[in-house]
Amino acid sequence: MSRRRVAVLISGRGSNMAALIEAAKDKNYPAEIVLIVSNRPDAGGLSIARAAGIATETVDHTNFGKDRAAFERALQAVLEKYKIEIVCLAGFMRLLTADFVNKWPERLINIHPALLPAFKGLDTHKRALDAGAKIHGATVHFVVPEMDSGPIIVQGAVKVRPGDSEETLSKRVLAVEHHIYPQALKLVAEGRLHVENGRCLIDGLPVPDASELSPG
Ligand code: GRF
Repeated sequence: MSRRRVAVLISGRGSNMAALIEAAKDKNYPAEIVLIVSNRPDAGGLSIARAAGIATETVDHTNFGKDRAAFERALQAVLEKYKIEIVCLAGFMRLLTADFVNKWPERLINIHPALLPAFKGLDTHKRALDAGAKIHGATVHFVVPEMDSGPIIVQGAVKVRPGDSEETLSKRVLAVEHHIYPQALKLVAEGRLHVENGRCLIDGLPVPDASELSPG
């Protein structure tokens, strides 16, 4: 079986990246994590990746000032150098322009710590608590130029408990993230997932609930 070549883009601790690396250790997993790219030289995830024997590259956005196009050209060049087929954003804290996003149709995915389309953007756990949400969770979606808006691939939900703090809630959501991201990447790498009218379908049918998908 030929496995899809995947890059994971990070900016920080890289726990979702680590979950993807772990899932891809299984030789039957349809994707291989061949590259980790960080826009921050001090991202904690880089050392996890090195310890796992995975190539790392840093494309430091601060070297490009306000020139987003130049930053994205450098990023694209790195991805091409490693012959990357699918890109996973995992806590990558840079907005990508339409020029970049449009180079990766149905091959660029992101994990967002909320049940989209609710709570796009930052501070999702605090906002969910402030709103009195009863259900919260995480979403893996295809990236489109508009932030946190692309077709939903997999979602995982948690109940908000009375007395939850941002910390306790984010911890439970993070555990869900580590579960659903490998599931979603598997679906994309298998090549059976397609977007029709803004919705993801597998072999023409809606994607099953995360609880019915294999663990990664
Ligand atoms: C995760 O909560 C992810 O959903 C969000 O940023 C966080 C990154 O955490 N986009 P990590 O670096 O994967 O540990």
